[in-house]
Amino acid sequence: MSSYVEVRNLTKKYGELIAVDNLNFEVEKNEIFGLLGPNGAGKSTTLSVLTTLSDLNKGDIEVCGYDIRKDKMKIKQLIGMVPQDIAVYEQLSALENVRFFASLYGLKGKRLTSAAKEALEFVGLADRQSMKPKQMSGGMRRRLNIACGIAHDPGLIVMDEPTVGVDAQSREHILNSICTLRDRGATVIYTSHYMNEVEEICDRIAIIDKGQMIACGTKAELVSLVTDVQSIYIETKLSSDTLELEIRKKLKVMPNVKAVAIEGNIIRIDLLIEQNSITRIIEQFMTFGLPIMNIKSEVPNLDTMFLTLTGHELR
Ligand SMILES: Nc1ncnc2c1ncn2[C@@H]1O[C@H](COP(=O)(O)OP(=O)(O)O)[C@@H](O)[C@H]1O
Ligand SMILES: [Mg+2]
Repeated sequence: MSSYVEVRNLTKKYGELIAVDNLNFEVEKNEIFGLLGPNGAGKSTTLSVLTTLSDLNKGDIEVCGYDIRKDKMKIKQLIGMVPQDIAVYEQLSALENVRFFASLYGLKGKRLTSAAKEALEFVGLADRQSMKPKQMSGGMRRRLNIACGIAHDPGLIVMDEPTVGVDAQSREHILNSICTLRDRGATVIYTSHYMNEVEEICDRIAIIDKGQMIACGTKAELVSLVTDVQSIYIETKLSSDTLELEIRKKLKVMPNVKAVAIEGNIIRIDLLIEQNSITRIIEQFMTFGLPIMNIKSEVPNLDTMFLTLTGHELR
């Protein structure tokens, strides 16, 4: 195996529930690899197996050439984990928290102090080192959580939804930090259910839904999977939920229609573009007896791709 991380046929069950279903992907050294999927897709489960926190049911994982079954300790030492649920000690200050987590990786003395201070500086909390987590805003707590995961300078950084519940400024700071970590030589695996974030920072993206891989590649590669599809947006005046259901049903079965999504008075139809396919949609729409207030079409993006490949929206 030659990639930095190789995941082969990974399956993880909770009782009868298959949370991760035969997943395959590789992460190259020094890239930001994004796992994108809706809630419940299996992102956290994948990360918990990858970081050795839980055991897999089937499959193989290698990290930096180490086998997850045989070399658990070696893999643990390579990884810095930033969990989805913030894991810091409320009674410790910011600096004491980071020192504690870095000390678990064997850092001591002056090296420990300078690494902890550097990590706080990196996440923009240098002037808050004496603050306790409960005095911090949501965004600062998230940034502290990140500092705790990266202070020991791990080669592989794994971050689970690091921007959930943060203000716009912290979010920008966190996304920039992830890019800086990559630019300094780390490999980053990062999960999110925000399409725009993943588009912005990831070198490659794996899209998962219901535990399964939907597609994997660079943004351009993913979008190219759906280049023959366009999103048509029709703005109308919907009068009832029954009508909405009826419209969705009738449009969905039309030839060339890949997916239909309705939000407020906007109907979005992802359509395989062929001769007359738009005309047919408009003709069908006229039979609903609804006004067309506006109509526009858009070239595909990752949203289109997700909707087209899974039949439902990301959120
Ligand atoms: N500890 C657990 N016990 C039982 N089911 C779980 C557990 N953790 C997650 N699940 C289930 O596994 C599926 C995948 O969850 P998760 O990996 O947390 O998804 P994501 O991180 O993409 O939101 C979901 O259906 C979730 O309810
Ligand atoms: Mg999760």
